[in-house]
Formats: sequence, C-alpha cells, structure tokens
Amino acid sequence: MQRFEEYLIAHLPKAPSFHPIFDEALNVMLLAGGKRFRPQLLLAVVDAYVPMLREGAYPVAMALEMFHTYSLVHDDLPVMDNADLRRGEPTLHKRYDEVTAVLVGDALNTHAFYLIADAPLHNDVKIALVKELAYNGGIGGMVLGQAIDCYFEGKKLDPEQVDFLHEYKTGRLIAASLKMGAIIAGLDDESQRKLFDFGLDLGLLFQIQDDIIDVTESSETAGKTTGNDEDKNSYIAHFGLSGSCERADILAEKIRVQLEGFDLPLREELEAILSKYLYRHKNP
Ligand code: IPE
Ligand code: IPE
Ligand code: MG
Ligand code: MG
Ligand code: MG
Repeated sequence: MQRFEEYLIAHLPKAPSFHPIFDEALNVMLLAGGKRFRPQLLLAVVDAYVPMLREGAYPVAMALEMFHTYSLVHDDLPVMDNADLRRGEPTLHKRYDEVTAVLVGDALNTHAFYLIADAPLHNDVKIALVKELAYNGGIGGMVLGQAIDCYFEGKKLDPEQVDFLHEYKTGRLIAASLKMGAIIAGLDDESQRKLFDFGLDLGLLFQIQDDIIDVTESSETAGKTTGNDEDKNSYIAHFGLSGSCERADILAEKIRVQLEGFDLPLREELEAILSKYLYRHKNP
C-alpha cells in the first residue's frame, strides 16, 4: 500500500481560492491515516485479476477513501456522534469549526465522484463505478444507515433491524469496494455479485468489531472517541460483549469458508489483508 499512499499524497485536492485554511482542512483527515481498508479491498481484486490496471485504479481507490473520510467527518459532528478525536487527531469541528467540518465533508463527497470521472478508465466502467458508489454510499447504503443510526438513538430496534442498520451504514460501502474492484477488472455479473455478498458479511463483521472497540479500547488506543455508543443500537447494546464476540466469530468463520471458494489469486490477495481483521475482536 506504500505506492497507493504516495499516490494519495501526490494527488491531494487543491481548491482554487484565497481561503486561508480550506485546503488544509480538506486534507488533514485524509493525511491523518486510517487503515485504508476500502482502497485495499478494491486494489486486492484488481491485483488478483488485472494487475496492469492497478495504476488506473488508484484514483478510484482514492475516491473510496475520500468518500469514507467524508462519512467520518460528518459522523463526528455534534449533531451526529459528537466526537472529539479521529485518526489520532482532533476532529475537524474541534480543530476548526462546525461549518468547516460540514463543508469539508461535502467537498470530500463530491470530489470522490470527480476523481472517478477523471480516471483513465473506459466511460462505461466509470459510469458503473459512479452508480455503485453513489447508491451504496447514499440511499442504498451509508447515508440511510446513518439516518437510521441517528433517528433511533435511545429507541430500541428489533434484532433484524439492528443487522439492517449495520449492513447499510458500514457493510454496503465495504461490499461496494470489492464490487468496484471487480468492475475495473472486468469480472462478470455473477462474480461481481459473489464479491458484493462476501463484502456484506465482511462489512458486518467489521462493524461488530468496531462496536466492540467502542467498549474495550481507550480513545487513545483507538485514535478516536470511544465509549460513545451508549444510546446507539450497537451490537454491544443488543447482545453484550460476549454475544457480540460470538456473532463476530460466526461471521469470521463464514468469511474464511467463502475465501476458500475464491480463485486462488483473489484468495491470496484477500487473505493477506484480512488476516489482520478476521479475528481482531479476539485481541483488542
Ligand atoms: C470507521 O471506519 C467507521 C466504520 C465504518 C466502522 P474505519 O475503522 O475503516 O476507520 P479508518 O478509516 O481506519 O479511520
Ligand atoms: C460510523 O459508525 C459508520 C459510518 C458510516 C461513518 P460509527 O459511528 O460506529 O463509527 P466510529 O466508531 O465513530 O468510527
Ligand atoms: Mg456513528
Ligand atoms: Mg461515530
Ligand atoms: Mg463505532
């Protein structure tokens, strides 16, 4: 991922204006790091099937990271999760002010689509990528999930609704990252669907683990405000810590079995990334 990181730093967005801090605010959260989980997934699929396309996929991988970073900036706002720390740094509304955080989020969101439109890929591929990100990042995924997450704060959902909430707010963008890799690699519809479905399980596992981190890690260790989910329909609130770990174990095992059914190069690429994540709830 070293080369992707270099690409990202070399291609940070620059706004054409005399605004004294807009560019800095736009980039500070991108530069603060993060696991780059979604770009890694997209690039893993491209590398497994058409490694020659890796460079062409970088702007799309960067678009995913930018879009995800927008979701975090807005997620931390006082009207949403009201968090002070993100990626080891003060959140943008703390460092600057709320209006800056709102507008930086807006800019990261829209610029993600600019990057895809500008990528050196065929137009039909780019349209398919835009559709995937717009839908799974929006009303068919992240935004809807966040809306449910916030609307039902302090109101208990049914267990099936809890799965729906987490699948939408986190799972669908992760699933889309894999599918977008498959679109760039030119895989057929069935393979795209298989990767998307795999991504839904992976995304759900990822969010259960995130809910576990909220109660098991300090803000300092996590690099973000923890102990912040008390009013949420988190997995912890519904199933407790051990129940959540059990659910994570079941999903991790399901994912491990699915990996065995993938083409060998894809399996190897994904296993290299996922070895760090599948059982991360076991050693907080
Ligand atoms: C945090 O995402 C929010 C969730 C969707 C769980 P990540 O855990 O991927 O955060 P970064 O990108 O590493 O900061
Ligand atoms: C946020 O979930 C998911 C997003 C779509 C950003 P959380 O609110 O649990 O994420 P963290 O714990 O603040 O990173
Ligand atoms: Mg949240
Ligand atoms: Mg949050
Ligand atoms: Mg969380």
